[in-house]
Amino acid sequence: MKQLIVVSNRVPSPQKDSGSQGGLAVGVMNALSRTDGLWMGWNGVLEEDAEAVAPNAYEHEGVRFATFPLTEEEHELFYVGYSNEVLWPLLHYRPDMVEYSRDKDRGYQRVNQRFADQVADQLEDNDDSAIWVHDYQLLSTGHFLRTRNVDCPIGFFLHIPMPPWETFRILPRQERMIEHLCAYDTIGVQTETDLEHLLDNVARSGVARVEGHTIVFDGRRIDTGVFPISIDVDAAREMAERGAHSPRSERLKASLRGGPLIIGVDRLDYSKGIYQRFRAFEQLLENTLSRYGNITYLQIAPLSRTGVERYAALRHDLERIAGHVNGRFSSYDWMPLRYLNTGYDRETLMGFMRQSRVALVTPLRDGMNLVAKEYVAAQDPQDPGVLMLSSFAGAAEQLDGAMLCNPFDVEEMADMLDAALSMSLEERKARWQRLHEVISTHDIHRWGRTFVEALNASAAARHGE
Ligand code: G6P
Repeated sequence: MKQLIVVSNRVPSPQKDSGSQGGLAVGVMNALSRTDGLWMGWNGVLEEDAEAVAPNAYEHEGVRFATFPLTEEEHELFYVGYSNEVLWPLLHYRPDMVEYSRDKDRGYQRVNQRFADQVADQLEDNDDSAIWVHDYQLLSTGHFLRTRNVDCPIGFFLHIPMPPWETFRILPRQERMIEHLCAYDTIGVQTETDLEHLLDNVARSGVARVEGHTIVFDGRRIDTGVFPISIDVDAAREMAERGAHSPRSERLKASLRGGPLIIGVDRLDYSKGIYQRFRAFEQLLENTLSRYGNITYLQIAPLSRTGVERYAALRHDLERIAGHVNGRFSSYDWMPLRYLNTGYDRETLMGFMRQSRVALVTPLRDGMNLVAKEYVAAQDPQDPGVLMLSSFAGAAEQLDGAMLCNPFDVEEMADMLDAALSMSLEERKARWQRLHEVISTHDIHRWGRTFVEALNASAAARHGE
């Protein structure tokens, strides 16, 4: 393979702190920085004549980039509309939030075609590159690459969940989506459950046949597999060690005045279950106030997808409940819930995580959730904190040392928080060791390597090598 070309909607911006970037940017950057890779995607800018603009090439942290703008209309239909008002809620098991229209659907197809054109334009005849397309925004990109006669290996990785058929079939024209998925050589998902659903959805759509873990479509074979995304464990640990001694961390520590810290770090998204968490915290305060003294819960939640209405509504709800909890329990010198929309650099975040006694990672549904893994990597092995993890996060299928909770049961979450806060050092260490073992053996390097190997193997089989 001459080079690996990664294609995703979002590429990490040198200016943006990673607290608001989501797992994809963090994970792929880590995977690419050690290979000779090119990363293509949207530059985050909207321009009137975007279609006429040539990609902008640059290098950042040892990776080559080629990025391009979108028009306002493309952004509205493809990104806000179809990606985040149709696919995101549906694939996170929230069909009640789906707002489909044919315009959005057409916009999505057009922009996927544009991504494919941008990539195809970079390729030479008989190019032996491999292309790795990422996430729900670009499901159809592989199909449009094939219509441009691109014959090199093309893989697809879905970072978010794949729901079961009864949910998936709510997607209008779901057969076309499955047909487009069949343009890839390899399809990767986060968990065994996602894979089971993917194969069942393909079979039940009637579009293609399924043989074991292989999809057979129009004489072609598409391999599928589970590739749980992860983090760079050593880098995260080092950042946490440095971050824990930063002036910000020192100030945070002093402000706690000896009380325990609970932490949450999420993009402000309804799938993350932040509202339920705030309610669980309120319940905890009600149940245990006199026992723990000044507990502080720090929720860092940078704004995300502000152009999508559901996110604005969630923001409003969170502001209301945060004000309610603080109004009810604060005293003149203590505020239990610190709710922030500011993002921080990773070193600061890891330092905060290292200082906290409990992490609340309680999404209602999540593809993987890298915050859970980052929290484990950030801990001091001699005095580790407790990870409270939703059993509906993909990470729960791997991280069995976590306290697994049901985020829909607020009272149970409050009881578990109580148990986490009073857990013995011995149990905390034992759980942490189990968690650490998993993340160190299944790290980001393994994720990138195994996917690319699988992609090369499927492509070689296709060419009968
Ligand atoms: C999740 C998705 C990514 C997305 C990220 C941030 O992690 O899986 O594809 O890039 O959220 O969301 P945004 O809409 O800002 O790109």
